[in-house]
Amino acid sequence: MRKEIAEQPEVVARTLSGRLEPRFQTTHLGGIELAAHELLDIRRVKILGCGSAYIAGAIGAHLIEQLARLPAHAEPASEFRYRNPVIERDTLYIAVSQSGETFDTLAAVQEVKRKGGRVLGIVNVVGSTIARECGRGIYLHAGPEIAVVSTKTFTCTAVAFALLAIHLGRIRDLSTAAGGRLLTALAILPGQIDGIIAREAEVARLAERLALCEHAYFVGRSAGYAVAMEGALKLKEVSYLHAEAYSAAELKHGPLALISPETPTIAVIPRDALYPKNLSTIEEIRARRGPVFAVTHAGEVLATADAMFDVPRSEPELDPILLNIPLQLLAYHVALKRGCDIDKPRNLAKSVTVE
Ligand code: AGP
Repeated sequence: MRKEIAEQPEVVARTLSGRLEPRFQTTHLGGIELAAHELLDIRRVKILGCGSAYIAGAIGAHLIEQLARLPAHAEPASEFRYRNPVIERDTLYIAVSQSGETFDTLAAVQEVKRKGGRVLGIVNVVGSTIARECGRGIYLHAGPEIAVVSTKTFTCTAVAFALLAIHLGRIRDLSTAAGGRLLTALAILPGQIDGIIAREAEVARLAERLALCEHAYFVGRSAGYAVAMEGALKLKEVSYLHAEAYSAAELKHGPLALISPETPTIAVIPRDALYPKNLSTIEEIRARRGPVFAVTHAGEVLATADAMFDVPRSEPELDPILLNIPLQLLAYHVALKRGCDIDKPRNLAKSVTVE
């Protein structure tokens, strides 16, 4: 897991390679095999995947909605076919899978195709069943991922969604200036990820405190909520610590009852328009004497949280990609301190090829 976390600067550069097109401030995605006029006909995007692939899809939905102004929604592929879903001609369906062999995701793709829908894949393993079934899509080029938990492929999937969102956006209303600033930000992403990984020791210190707890909560808003979901999934998978993610906005509608001095909260707080709202969430948690670890961009949160990890800023739409990296390291170090079998967590398989 640690090796694959450390590979991220290199593999993100591979996902980006040959796909940035500064001449038109857009991206080049040869494998999607849909002409501009076909992409223009799309009115909605539905993203399907399981586990981390689904959560990366939630980040993708946010990117597509923000940059292309298309309604976009991610749904667990494992639920999809059981509700006799309505398949629409002007919806683009996107299947996300690292292995390309996850049974539930494959079944969702087949359900879409059986009903005449158009689906493209965001897949890591070249020539895998889902990649072949979709017939078009974006390969991650992240190389083999051996550890059971996804780390580098989660990040590369989010990057692939950024490329697609820019592509869809530039066909619509995303300006050349906005396209340009996003391309510049993508190009420096590998170096920024490298900078975060170089500060692993800071995360390890946070992990020492967390490793002693039995429960932890992750909170965030909007795309930050998806980052919180992935942080909680990673922590529970490798450290067996009970971790749940809540939308920071939903906290006061129930989960706040769980906060106590024994239950730390990891708060994902980008410096965006929701920053003041996130600060007041921290205050609510602190008022119940809950310890708060903030993963954030430098700011006032320093004074409010018990501990923080400062993440370099990107363009706001891309910030979730960087905010996720310290949470991967956190899960790894908590698991290490708890003596867990990190690369092969109990009860889990790398690829779930059965129903
Ligand atoms: C991620 O850490 C998990 N092991 C799991 O949620 C995984 O993402 C899921 O099973 C989907 O796998 P896939 O990407 O190979 O389809």
